[in-house]
Amino acid sequence: MENFAFYSPTQFVFGKDTESEAGKLVKRFGGSKVLLHFGGGSVVKSGLLDRVKKSLDAEGISYVELGGVMPNPRSGLVYEGIDLCKKEGVDFVLAVGGGSTIDSAKAIAAGVVYDGDFWDFYRGKRIEEALPVGTILTIAAAGSEGSPDSVITYEDGMYKRGASGDAIRPKFSILNPALTQTLPPYQTAAGITDIMAHLYERYLTNSKDVEVTDRMIEALLLTMVHEGPRVIENPNNYEARANIMWAGTMAHNNCCGVGRSQDWLSHTIEHELSALYDCAHGAGLAVTMPAVFKYELSHDVMRFAKVAVRVWGCQMDFDHPERTALEGINAFKNFLSSIGMPVTFGELGAKEEDIPKLVDVLCNGDGRTGSISGFITLNEEECAKIYKM
Ligand code: NZQ
Ligand code: ZN
Repeated sequence: MENFAFYSPTQFVFGKDTESEAGKLVKRFGGSKVLLHFGGGSVVKSGLLDRVKKSLDAEGISYVELGGVMPNPRSGLVYEGIDLCKKEGVDFVLAVGGGSTIDSAKAIAAGVVYDGDFWDFYRGKRIEEALPVGTILTIAAAGSEGSPDSVITYEDGMYKRGASGDAIRPKFSILNPALTQTLPPYQTAAGITDIMAHLYERYLTNSKDVEVTDRMIEALLLTMVHEGPRVIENPNNYEARANIMWAGTMAHNNCCGVGRSQDWLSHTIEHELSALYDCAHGAGLAVTMPAVFKYELSHDVMRFAKVAVRVWGCQMDFDHPERTALEGINAFKNFLSSIGMPVTFGELGAKEEDIPKLVDVLCNGDGRTGSISGFITLNEEECAKIYKM
């Protein structure tokens, strides 16, 4: 296991009706004037936004609103949010929605207290300072409610890039699984896929002797294999929603990723798909993961065989471990298909003729230098092969 420091100070408030605590929590973390940030309208329609406003009113906290965050959130609204916060003297950013809304809120929070262009953070500058951020989560997926990351698409060039820093870890996150019951099945499945991706990206490591985090990841994957189909079958299954929601947070606040190197190639390759085709991030991952894993398999057959046996119940073939490894990847692919995810380029709506463009932005766009690295390193030719797979 490698040396690490882990500090994850988000206060999680979990369970039914917990959104009514929003006002008290904002106050506890020093907020007096809030930017209420939300997406395309699901929180208006469900009545959640009104309940949150009531909770802020009850504590005498004033707020300004900025809705309209799109899935795969864009830089334009971030600039608008930064200007609004400066003009209104906002001191706390409250995101009500999914990963896209939370990521946009984090970008605004970092941009408000920074003199330069907020995009500097998405080109590698670490975020050291930001307004405090709180979240009320409405979809179990991205894990942004407990992560120090934000992913934004820069509209001039459509670069989808991430930024990081403990300063943007939410001060609190309200997790009410009942709020996810209004999700369409496709979004629920895309969320399940993203959660599993965050686990796999950490499982695929070059670090040795990381059994404790291996076992934690396997436990969370097994939970997803059990609860995923239950929630697809019955969207109102609160208990299944609750287990998935907490698994989603644990999958990405990095408690399972400490002391080990991580992969993230599937995510890096996917981000170009959601940037170009505006598909759901989870759906893009369902297409990229099986291909990336097959490409990576020969790098560490036993790691893929281990997850195949421990999570997918495959029988170990000691003479041909690569068969076991491949069986596990195929079991995962079948699982994704069974919950309604696309697993091919065509099913996603992606086009083969776009591959050169995808590869160019992936490997050379916005400061990159011809390759991407994770569990293994991939050059342009190899990335093209993966998109073709
Ligand atoms: O915009 P509204 O109207 O709210 O609708 C959203 C959106 O259309 C809808 N939705 C959310 N909650 C709902 C609901 N509809 C009905 N009922 C509800 N309760 O679902 C759609 C998707 O929402 P979005 O926020 O985009 O989903 P998700 O949480 O999957 O976020 C995806 C974004 O997160 C990034 C992805 O790249 C993508 O841009 N990621 C962020 C990470 C991070 N910050 O740590 C890590 C991830 O790997 C990921 O890259
Ligand atoms: Zn993800």
